[in-house]
Amino acid sequence: MKDFQEDFPLHAFYGDIHSTYDRVNRIFTFGRDRSWRRRAARELLQNRPGRVLDLCTGTGDFVLELAHQSAHASNEVDLTGFDFSSDMLKEAQRKQSEPQNRKRLPQIRFIEGDAGEMPFEDDHFDSMGITFGIRNLVYENSNASKHLSEMKRVLRPGGQLVVLESSKPKSPLWRLFNDFYLRFILPYLGGLISGNLKAYQYLSRSSKNYYTIGEMGVLLEVAGFKMIRSRSLFLGSVMLLVLEKR
Ligand SMILES: C[S@@+](CC[C@H](N)C(=O)[O-])C[C@H]1O[C@@H](n2cnc3c(N)ncnc32)[C@H](O)[C@@H]1O
Repeated sequence: MKDFQEDFPLHAFYGDIHSTYDRVNRIFTFGRDRSWRRRAARELLQNRPGRVLDLCTGTGDFVLELAHQSAHASNEVDLTGFDFSSDMLKEAQRKQSEPQNRKRLPQIRFIEGDAGEMPFEDDHFDSMGITFGIRNLVYENSNASKHLSEMKRVLRPGGQLVVLESSKPKSPLWRLFNDFYLRFILPYLGGLISGNLKAYQYLSRSSKNYYTIGEMGVLLEVAGFKMIRSRSLFLGSVMLLVLEKR
């Protein structure tokens, strides 16, 4: 398998774009990304988990949403955001210390490390979320199976995995528009705003060639998770999957 990281490590890529990442996200998704994360957070908190991992937390939008939604939960929620980019994590910590996030929110522990070797015990988490991160872990990545087996290892049996990710739409017409957008608009606009064309060329290419919701389901089932429910969002350009560890 061609490993994208050989000529352009993802780690360096996120170090380069961390300060513009959120802004570009908002523009590219027409502001919809926040509502998708809200929905994923509701799914994840439904079973009242105690220990929660936000894998590939990036600038922390998802784990902060989890903190907001669980602020009034009857049970105590222990939140961890995990990522290998210290620059992205710094951005997450900066947001955590903003006045609206400081007050009355559950504490979030941010930990730097690689998803292929996580510093957690087996079966440690009750639930795990990964928003727009699993593509990085499995697409053109020779460590894909290592990442998937670590995800399974740190989640307790029966624990839930919530995945939010871009996907290949089923409708041919929407796929055409989606592909056009990913090929001719996203890389150049993202490159312009972030100053890193190569990074956004990777993002576009990996989104365009990525899985359909069904293919993603199969990949995760083979890795040891059982599908509970799935939803297509934004006419199928985004997928939301809820699975549990077998
Ligand atoms: C597209 S961002 C998603 C960030 C965030 N979850 C969101 O919803 O916006 C992907 C994140 O995955 C992280 N990442 C990629 N590969 C990783 C790995 N092997 N281990 C840990 N983090 C990784 C990157 O540093 C980046 O912050």
